[in-house]
Amino acid sequence: MKIEGKVFVVTGGASGLGAATATHLIGKGAKVIMVDMNHALGEEMQKRLGEKSKFVQLDVTDEVAVEQFFKNVEQDYGQLNGLINCAGIGPSAKVLGKNGIHALDAFQKVLNINVTGTFNMLRFAADVISRYELKAGEEDRGVIVNTASVAAFDGQIGQVAYAASKGAVVAMTLPLARELAQHAIRVMTIAPGIMETPMLKGLPEKVQDALGAMVPFPPRLARPEEFAHLVGHICENNYLNGETIRLDGAIRMQPK
Ligand SMILES: NC(=O)c1ccc[n+]([C@@H]2O[C@H](COP(=O)([O-])OP(=O)(O)OC[C@H]3O[C@@H](n4cnc5c(N)ncnc54)[C@H](O)[C@@H]3O)[C@@H](O)[C@H]2O)c1
Repeated sequence: MKIEGKVFVVTGGASGLGAATATHLIGKGAKVIMVDMNHALGEEMQKRLGEKSKFVQLDVTDEVAVEQFFKNVEQDYGQLNGLINCAGIGPSAKVLGKNGIHALDAFQKVLNINVTGTFNMLRFAADVISRYELKAGEEDRGVIVNTASVAAFDGQIGQVAYAASKGAVVAMTLPLARELAQHAIRVMTIAPGIMETPMLKGLPEKVQDALGAMVPFPPRLARPEEFAHLVGHICENNYLNGETIRLDGAIRMQPK
């Protein structure tokens, strides 16, 4: 798919990987609607990215609001070609922790945002994308890119809820790609390693350096731009479909 002139929705677009992705897609000539819960950061992003961008405050788990959001997108833009799901949370808690047994609602919250939120967004996005009228020379109507994590494969102690949620995102990829193939919509997942986003930048520099040094090569944290660049490549390479790509410098996380 050629990115120029296409319309994308990026969740978690106000921060970290989503913000970098929105910036990259705008740079390639797309129109991008960023959705996020964080109103202040989202407005700031819209100002920075200019008229080809729009920020909408939205909770990806809200069934009614998300349905209305996609109705508005179709009405305002007349088409949709991509959904990049970056919204997510990553708290950690042990099953048997210092403060007691893992709370059930904490487990459900992670699954709700990371899995249900991803699915809620993509079901409506797929519906709008499926109505895009292919132009001469075009092969795919659109692409959905979800964000998992290496925790889907090497979950650490304290990541039981997070790993379960990201494992579900990985597992959704193939059945979605198989089903949506008939609509010429591709589905891919990226499983990032340790990324230099606000989530990790909050840690002391020493800890960040130690984390970076654990990566075989290059021995540093990944830059959000590297994630965004991969999203761009996935959009442009029509033969990428139904797969999860680790973006991790060959790191395999240890138990803790
Ligand atoms: N940073 C890392 O090292 C890393 C590694 C692997 C995977 N990931 C995944 O990448 C994704 C992006 O992470 P990031 O590092 O950019 O984090 P981030 O905290 O910088 O950005 C996530 C954004 O999602 C938004 N969000 C959270 N819940 C939401 C909801 N219900 N509705 C709408 N927006 C919501 C937040 O407001 C935030 O702006 C997440 O899914 C995360 O699990 C991150």
